[in-house]
Amino acid sequence: MYSQKTSLPTKNDFLSSEPGNGTMTTSISDSFNPELLDAIKRMAHIAEYRKANTLSHLDRIREYCLVIAQGMGLDSQTAQMIAHASQLHDIGEIALPEQLVTRKDKLSSYEWDLVKRHPIIGAEILKGSPSAILQMGEIIALTHHERWDGSGYPQGLKAEEIPLGGRICALADVFDALTTRRPYKDEMPIELAAQLIRDSSGQFFDPQMVRVFQDELASLVEIRRMNI
Ligand SMILES: [Fe+2]
Ligand SMILES: [Fe+2]
Repeated sequence: MYSQKTSLPTKNDFLSSEPGNGTMTTSISDSFNPELLDAIKRMAHIAEYRKANTLSHLDRIREYCLVIAQGMGLDSQTAQMIAHASQLHDIGEIALPEQLVTRKDKLSSYEWDLVKRHPIIGAEILKGSPSAILQMGEIIALTHHERWDGSGYPQGLKAEEIPLGGRICALADVFDALTTRRPYKDEMPIELAAQLIRDSSGQFFDPQMVRVFQDELASLVEIRRMNI
């Protein structure tokens, strides 16, 4: 299957064509069409299903992103678009062998290289949609593992080179991963998870966003309580 990977886009393809770099096409007015939102959520669930993640995982990510996006001062339309699109962040994992996404033990460096392709695959799956939410989904899928200090993947983008949607989803995804039980680990106490995120300010995460995260922590905890 992976012999076909040569047809996947390269870093440069995305740097020159990703919507976040100013080439977003005119979108149809679909932002809050309930049928589209339902289809997006179910599409996202396909990729999460193999990891035994429930729909509540997607609900938490979406709601965390909404709170953080609003805290960053984004208008309601943009904040909601990022929130809905964030559910698609791991859609590219659908192309990975099942044993890799469900593995509990350590990955070899070859396997880790495969896993690190899921942002590019996700962006490829979503590329070219006329839907503004799916265009945002493409950006988020591609950039949700980038880090503020440039040490992330797949493009090693740094600071504000990372589209805001990707930065927001990165923080929401890490908070969720730390504070929920997975087959291979227990959940971490909220205060410890929050401390880890604060300690990663300027390294993994946008410092301004970490301040928003701290200010909104009570809301995030409540979202978690309602969607666990
Ligand atoms: Fe991911
Ligand atoms: Fe996730």
